Amino acid sequence: MGMLDDRVALVTGASRGLGRAICATLAREGADVAFNYSRSDDDARITQAAIEAEGRRAWAFKTSVLDKDGLRALTRTIEAEAGHLDILVNNAGVGQVVPLALMEEEDWDRMMSINVKGAFLTTQAVMRGMVRRRHGRILNISSLAGVKMMEAPVHYSTAKAALAGFTQALAKEIGRYGITVNCLAPGLLEDGVSVNLPEKRLAEYLRNCALGRQGTFQECAEVVAFLVSDRNSYMNGATIVLDGAV
Ligand SMILES: NC(=O)c1ccc[n+]([C@@H]2O[C@H](COP(=O)([O-])OP(=O)(O)OC[C@H]3O[C@@H](n4cnc5c(N)ncnc54)[C@H](OP(=O)(O)O)[C@@H]3O)[C@@H](O)[C@H]2O)c1
Repeated sequence: MGMLDDRVALVTGASRGLGRAICATLAREGADVAFNYSRSDDDARITQAAIEAEGRRAWAFKTSVLDKDGLRALTRTIEAEAGHLDILVNNAGVGQVVPLALMEEEDWDRMMSINVKGAFLTTQAVMRGMVRRRHGRILNISSLAGVKMMEAPVHYSTAKAALAGFTQALAKEIGRYGITVNCLAPGLLEDGVSVNLPEKRLAEYLRNCALGRQGTFQECAEVVAFLVSDRNSYMNGATIVLDGAV
C-alpha cells in the first residue's frame, strides 16, 4: 500500500530537478502523475519514464505555467482520462543571481511571473474540480530565501515570500471544500536553481547549516509525498522549512 494509492497528481515544472524527483516519488507511492514543462522534450521523456518505471500512468504536457488556456486544457485532459485530479504541486520556478542595482525590469517580471503568477494560474485551473469533488491537496514550493533573512537575490526572495501569503489566504478561502493548501520551503538543494550560486554563499550556507550539507532532491520529494497525502489531513496554510537547521 502506498500513501497515494488511487490518487492523481499534477506537478508543474517537472522535466528535471526537484520536479522530476517529486513525480517519481509520488508514483512510487501509488499516484498517477501528470507534469508540465516549457522547453526540453528530452528531459521530459526521462521524467515520464521515471513515473512509468513505478508502474503508474504518466502525462507530459509542454505547456508553460503562464499559458492560461493551455493549463485549462491539460486539466480537462487529465480529468477526462483519469476521472479526477487530487493533488497539485506548484513546483515550477526559476532563479537568477543578480544584485538589485543591476536588475532589469524584465528580470523582476520574469521572476514574479513564473514563480508566483504561474502558481495562481495553475491553481485556478485545477481547483475547480477539487471544489466539485470536495477534496484536494495543493502544495506550493517556496524557498528558505522566502522565509528567512539571508543573502539571496531580492526578486527571488520576494517571489518565494509571496507564495507563503498565497498559501495562507488560499487555505482560508478553500478549506471549507476539503482542500488543504500548504507550502514547503527547502534550503539549498544539490542542483537546479542553486547551481549558479557564488562559492562564497554556498560556503556560508554550509557553515550555518547544522547538518553541514545541501539537501537532496530525494529528501525533499519524500517530504512532499507525505505533505500531499491523506495522512497529512489537518495541516493547512502552513509553510514547512526543510533546511537541515540553517
Ligand atoms: N534547487 C534548489 O536548491 C531549490 C531550493 C529551494 C527551492 N527550490 C525551488 O524548487 C523548484 C524547482 O527547482 P529546481 O532546482 O528543480 O529547478 P530546475 O532544475 O531549474 O527545474 C525547473 C523546472 O521548471 C520548469 N519550468 C521553468 N519555467 C517553466 C514554465 N514557464 N512553465 C513550466 N515549467 C517551467 C523547467 O523546465 P523547462 O526549462 O523545460 O521549462 C524545469 O523542469 C523551484 O520552484 C525552486 O525555486 C529549489
